[in-house]
Amino acid sequence: MKAQETTNRKPRPKPVGLLVFSASLREDSLNTRLARLARSVIERHGATVDFATMRDFDGPSYDQDLEAREGIPPGPRALHRRLENADAFVIASPEYNASIPGHLKNAIDWVSRVRPQPFNARHGLLLSASPSMAGGNRGLWSLRIPLEHLGARVFPDMFSLAQAHEAFTDGGVLADQRLGERFEQNLVAFLDLVEAAKHYPCMKKAWVEFLGEPGDGPGRVDPA
Ligand code: FNR
Repeated sequence: MKAQETTNRKPRPKPVGLLVFSASLREDSLNTRLARLARSVIERHGATVDFATMRDFDGPSYDQDLEAREGIPPGPRALHRRLENADAFVIASPEYNASIPGHLKNAIDWVSRVRPQPFNARHGLLLSASPSMAGGNRGLWSLRIPLEHLGARVFPDMFSLAQAHEAFTDGGVLADQRLGERFEQNLVAFLDLVEAAKHYPCMKKAWVEFLGEPGDGPGRVDPA
């Protein structure tokens, strides 16, 4: 049995639900494999998962004229709705040219136009997988920027799977047992925080779209 299978299922004292999605459009995506593994670990630790891939959320390039004419396209609207229904989110994202894939940034830009703006005050965990030795970690640092700008509480510990094309067993777990344990610990620490934030809220954070702009709508907190 591999590490990810050996840890006993622990009942979570209070319910939490997460949106877990792969930010790859590719059928045989390494990030989708990592997201699926995250789903099984999270479910084993007592939380519920709404699973998706970028195919559910992709849309046309952001265009303010298109938005004025037709509103928010179906893909980004689905991302907004499924974020709103989740207590927190987990994204497993590829790294493209040392940064965030354009289609993911595009979906975030569309969603940022909807009110309430669903990244605000929502906890997020970032994962990546890549055949490279760095596992796509540079892309996650780029991904933090728009998410934190939008008020998301991005978990400090990120998980990047290096040489991901060789990292999975046929059963979809990590072949390296110690790495599997670290992956699981990372997810459980995040789940504990999400549960605490939902059921024992102790902090509030103001979000404004531009510096100096007063909060003025649903989902915004006036910093004054
Ligand atoms: C890549 N890839 C890549 N990998 C990496 O570690 N750092 C990088 O900067 C890039 N840049 C990059 C750009 C473009 C346009 C492509 C298509 C690919 C390789 C990438 O990690 C690899 O294709 C992964 O398999 C993509 O993730 P999914 O689709 O398998 O989840």
